[in-house]
Amino acid sequence: MLFRRKKKSGPVKVDDRLTHIAFILDGNGRWAKKRGMPREYGHSEGAQTFKRIVRYCGDIGIKVVTVYAFSTENWSRPKGEVDRIISLLDEYIAGAERELDENKIRYTFLGDKSVFAPGMVERMTRLEEISAHYELRLNIALNYGARAEIVHACRELAESGEEITEESLSSKLYTAGCPDPDLIVRTANERRLSNFLLWQAAYSELYFTPTLWPDMRPEDVDEAVADFYARERRFGGVTSK
Ligand code: IPE
Ligand code: IPE
Ligand code: MG
Repeated sequence: MLFRRKKKSGPVKVDDRLTHIAFILDGNGRWAKKRGMPREYGHSEGAQTFKRIVRYCGDIGIKVVTVYAFSTENWSRPKGEVDRIISLLDEYIAGAERELDENKIRYTFLGDKSVFAPGMVERMTRLEEISAHYELRLNIALNYGARAEIVHACRELAESGEEITEESLSSKLYTAGCPDPDLIVRTANERRLSNFLLWQAAYSELYFTPTLWPDMRPEDVDEAVADFYARERRFGGVTSK
């Protein structure tokens, strides 16, 4: 077996069967609650985890990482919590620009940016532009909802008069040009997609772990990767075994 847990086998390396991993990061609130702390504390710890996990995915050879950071439904949370999450993300974006030469990541934001403050929109757009030549892609789903994304893509197609095909619709999604996720990992014991990449996940492998997002470590990624490699993807065909 080629892909084993890091603890036992040293760093795993992925191949072209696993180019894109997406994470539904969940459990920040519960992580904080367990420690008797406000939910916001879980989000700031989660932001550190985010950096660590993205770096590790790059190290093991993943080409595209997508992270669900804030959904269109998350606006329904208390204002203080929403403000904290958005300001953490804005700090992350500013830091990403400062560290761009070091991290060499190509950033793309999935979702409607226009709802954010003009300064933040500017930082998001600039980061996308100045990082566009890097290879390792990081998609950050922010004010993202898959249904809204599909409706937005359909409207664009209707306006342009283009023929409606799977390819033309894919080309109007926020993920245009990215391969579909091979593996979607959701933390914190929830087993649902919560309006994430509904179109792109048609044949993704799903992996659920009880680990709360702030506790997520490279070893947990190794475990998800090993689980992925133990599966057979048939895409509707017949088994090769
Ligand atoms: C994930 O953690 C972060 C966001 C959805 C923004 P949660 O905040 O959903 O944490 P739980 O699910 O309440 O524990
Ligand atoms: C999904 O997590 C959204 C993000 C990870 C940004 P939620 O915590 O909002 O999802 P539900 O409410 O448990 O489905
Ligand atoms: Mg949650």
